[in-house]
Amino acid sequence: MSNELRIALIGFGQLGRLHAYAWRSIPLLYAPLAVRPRVTCVCDVDAERAQEGAEEAEAHHWSSDWEAVLADPTIDAVDVCTPNAFHFDVVQAALKAHKHVYCEKPLGLDLGQAVGLRNLALTSGVTHQIVSEYRYFPALSRARELVSRNALGQIYHFRGTYLHSGYVDPDRPLEWRLQRSVTGGGALMDLGPHLLDLALMLAGPIESVVASSATFITQRPVSHQSAERVPVDVEDALVLLLRFGNGALGTCELSRVATGSEDDLHFTVNGSRGALGFNLMDPNWLEFFDATAAPDMRGVTRIATVQKYPAPAVSPPPKCALGYSRAHIASQFAFLQAAVQGTPAEPDFRQGTAVQAVIHAAYESAASGRWTTVPNAL
Ligand SMILES: NC(=O)c1ccc[n+]([C@@H]2O[C@H](COP(=O)([O-])OP(=O)(O)OC[C@H]3O[C@@H](n4cnc5c(N)ncnc54)[C@H](O)[C@@H]3O)[C@@H](O)[C@H]2O)c1
Repeated sequence: MSNELRIALIGFGQLGRLHAYAWRSIPLLYAPLAVRPRVTCVCDVDAERAQEGAEEAEAHHWSSDWEAVLADPTIDAVDVCTPNAFHFDVVQAALKAHKHVYCEKPLGLDLGQAVGLRNLALTSGVTHQIVSEYRYFPALSRARELVSRNALGQIYHFRGTYLHSGYVDPDRPLEWRLQRSVTGGGALMDLGPHLLDLALMLAGPIESVVASSATFITQRPVSHQSAERVPVDVEDALVLLLRFGNGALGTCELSRVATGSEDDLHFTVNGSRGALGFNLMDPNWLEFFDATAAPDMRGVTRIATVQKYPAPAVSPPPKCALGYSRAHIASQFAFLQAAVQGTPAEPDFRQGTAVQAVIHAAYESAASGRWTTVPNAL
C-alpha cells in the first residue's frame, strides 16, 4: 500500500455523503497519519448522483457501473453504502478482487448471505468491517472497558430501546426501507443491528430469543401524494426478550413509529457489582453506578466521556460536545488503521454475522410465537 488508501464509495445517498465527509475529515482530525484515506471514485447506479458525488468528494472518477469499479486495480478499499439488497453482490465481488471492505449495516439481506460473506472475508486476507458507529462514541469505549475490568460483576440484565418516529405518517410513501425484498425486514433489520451489536459487545453471546412484531400502517402510497396504496410487508415495531449465554436476561424494543422520538437509542446494563446507562440523545456522558462504593457514597455518576478519543486524534478538543458524524469518522479511522496495520477490524464480518443470527432467530420467533435458539453462526 502506498501512503494513500484509495477508496471506491459505492452508493452516494444519505450515508454515502456522510462517509465521504468522514474520509475527508480524517487527515484533519488525526495526526500524524502514515496513510491518508482518499475517495478516488464515487459510484452510484444514478449516474447524475455519482457525478455530483465525485465533485463533492473531490474524487477523480465517477461511475454508474460498480463491477467496472471493482475491476480497477488502483482501488484498495470499497465502502458499501447501497440499500441492503445490493450489499451481497458488491461485497462478494470486492472480496474476490482482494479489496478491503467497509460495509454499511446490515451485512446481508438474511443470515445465509451474511454467513457467505463472512466465510469469504475470513479466507480473503483483507480487512472487513461492518458499520456500527455507536461503538465509536467514547462513552461506549468506556462502557466496554468497565465491563472488561469486571466493574459490573456478573451481568444480570441488558435493557435496550432504539426508537424512531419517521414512519408515523401513514402518507409517507413506500420507499425501499419499507420493502422486504430490498431491506430483509423492518424496524429490526434497520435499527436492530445497532442495538444488538452493543448488547453482544457488553453482555456477550445471545442463546435464545422470543419476539413479537406489529405493522400498524398496513398500506402506503406507492409514491409521494399518490392515491394508489400498496401493502407494507415489513414490521413497524418489534419487541424482543433475550437469554444470554452467561445467564443474563435482556429486552430490546425497536420501533420506527414511536411518536415523539428522534434517534432515541438507550440502554442500561445491570450487574452484581454495578450498572451502566447510555442515552444516544445525551451522548457526552456514561452513567455508572458502583455497588461496591461505601453505602453513604452510592449513586449514579455521570462520567464525562465527551469527545475523549485516544491519540492520534488531535481535534476537536476532548472537552467539546460530541455528535453522530464524529462517531462515523472514528469508525472509519479504525478501519483505516486495521487495513494499514493488518489487524482485525471491529466489528468485523464475524460480529456482523453474529448480529444477523439474532435477527434471524427473532423473525422466526415472531412468526412462531415461541422461544427460538439463535443459530451458532461461528
Ligand atoms: N450506520 C447508520 O447509522 C445508517 C443509517 C442509515 C442507513 N444506513 C445503511 O446505509 C445503507 C444506505 O442507506 P442510505 O440511507 O444512504 O440510502 P439512500 O437511499 O439514501 O442511498 C442509497 C444510494 O445507493 C444507490 N444505489 C442503489 N443500488 C446501487 C448499486 N447497485 N450500486 C451503486 N449504487 C446503488 C442509490 O441510487 C442511492 O443513491 C443501507 O444499508 C442502510 O441500512 C446506516
